[in-house]
Amino acid sequence: MRFALLLLACLSTLGSAAANDTILIKFSHVVAPDTPKGRAAEKFKELAEKMSAGRVKVQLYPNGQLYKDREEMAALQRNAVQILAPSLSKFGALGLRQFELFDLPYIFPNDKVLYRVMDGEIGQGLLRQLNSKGIVGLAYWDNGFKHFSANRPLRTPADFKGLRMRIQASKVLEAQMKSLGAVPKVIAFSEVYSALQQQVIDGAENPESNFRTQRMHEVQKHLTLSQHGYVGYAVIVNKTFWEGLPTDLRAQLSTAMQLATAYERQIADEENRRALEEVRAAHTTEIYVLPLADREILRKQMLPVHREFLDIIGKDLIYGTYRIAA
Ligand code: LMR
Repeated sequence: MRFALLLLACLSTLGSAAANDTILIKFSHVVAPDTPKGRAAEKFKELAEKMSAGRVKVQLYPNGQLYKDREEMAALQRNAVQILAPSLSKFGALGLRQFELFDLPYIFPNDKVLYRVMDGEIGQGLLRQLNSKGIVGLAYWDNGFKHFSANRPLRTPADFKGLRMRIQASKVLEAQMKSLGAVPKVIAFSEVYSALQQQVIDGAENPESNFRTQRMHEVQKHLTLSQHGYVGYAVIVNKTFWEGLPTDLRAQLSTAMQLATAYERQIADEENRRALEEVRAAHTTEIYVLPLADREILRKQMLPVHREFLDIIGKDLIYGTYRIAA
């Protein structure tokens, strides 16, 4: 009996030692695996497990299967999940309103300006702010520019009047839709398809890869390539978890993240192009390329939103971005 108990005790110690050897990292996100974010998360998993020689195991939870928009930040803060990659529009809700810089309509004229903002002092300063929330910002991931969709053509500001448009929970996005005369509706990403299908909302704004992988082309007859806003992500990790990792392991994971980030930036454009071709091939949605002159009209209509948020986001950030764009 004593021997049996001893054996049991030994086995359970061995069991927990074996379990302790492998550190489990849960990485949750809300989009499909075949999106830039989904594919980069897979790349990170592959690199992290290889570079750490199996000391970590990364479990991916795509499609919001573990946590949805509203739940995931709190889950990260209590270390129920270790890594997330929420869109930058979701950080204002944490009280970090400066992140809403990324939501301002037409603030980035092209990728070059965007990357200079993200990789420079503005973007890096924003990531540092996360520390006060028990979070460490590891990287920015990219998903390109957003486009408007609805069941009627969207060509001029007047076309938006009265449309119930889905937004992420961002005050800037709310103001943007109002500036067009639309009615903003905050809906979790995983619920957008059914909300469109059931006509709880009339339209949305998405980069091509999200539009396609959520099958929005089945429920939206018109997609206007407006490029009016940006969708990017901050890859974030629970601070206590991250700082508690052995130094050498943390360095390996940082390298894995850098490589996955370079990969993500490289594929984002290509994935979005491919998604648009797939939407075109489905013949369910009319794709309209907004001419530059009309884009300018839309831009002017939404521009007051920049002024409205000057003090909330901060003049230094907004003017700093204008200077980089000039
Ligand atoms: C959205 O909610 O529209 C996006 O943030 C989804 C995503 O993560 O790309």
